[in-house]
Amino acid sequence: MKEQIKITAVIGSYRKGGIIDQTVDEILAAATARGGAASKIYLIDRHVEFCRNCRICTQEEGERRGRCPQEDEMDAILDEIDESEAIILASPMNFGAVTAVMKRFIERLICTAYWPWGQMAPKLRRREKKKRAVLVAASAAPAFLSRLMTPMVGRLKNAADVLGARTVGLLFVGLAARAQRQEIGAGVRKKARRLGRKLLIAD
Ligand SMILES: Cc1cc2nc3c(=O)[nH]c(=O)nc-3n(C[C@H](O)[C@H](O)[C@H](O)COP(=O)(O)O)c2cc1C
Repeated sequence: MKEQIKITAVIGSYRKGGIIDQTVDEILAAATARGGAASKIYLIDRHVEFCRNCRICTQEEGERRGRCPQEDEMDAILDEIDESEAIILASPMNFGAVTAVMKRFIERLICTAYWPWGQMAPKLRRREKKKRAVLVAASAAPAFLSRLMTPMVGRLKNAADVLGARTVGLLFVGLAARAQRQEIGAGVRKKARRLGRKLLIAD
């Protein structure tokens, strides 16, 4: 029997059931309806320490990610992502950028690079992109304006790259702060379902 395609969503929203969460759910629903296996990581619920720029994790050469000396759940999160064929990276736009919890997670991805002292810039340990990624963002402003204003899509794409994932789609949900409890519209649902199917398609 063909093994299930595993999809892990990393969620940087502070609100369960909010716009980001609903959009991710719709993507995952489309994927699981076609046999994918989904799991969600809410960064607000997980113990992830700040990167301390100590660079201990970047000193040792090799393909395997470097070990951070901090005792938290980051290693377990990265193991879960490693075991996935597809990922979703999702964050609201707060003050023009990804949320603090998403940024904290992204900074910890420095362990995917070899960067010994004395070397100018980090070198990615593994260049191949075997996974697929979908990026999800949301903002109060209309999506087309937000996309012009924010570098967050680039940051999420960088994160997907270093996690070994090729970005196959982006869903930027605009006008996402009109009511305390707002439902995503039919247009967003449709795009989300299309991306959910896309996550299952191998090259
Ligand atoms: C602290 C804070 C900062 C925000 N900054 C922006 C912003 O710079 N631009 C924008 O369009 N929306 C901004 N918003 C609106 C959020 O992007 C919007 O509420 C969020 O995308 C909804 O996602 P959620 O339902 O998953 O929480 C901000 C909201 C908060 C609470």
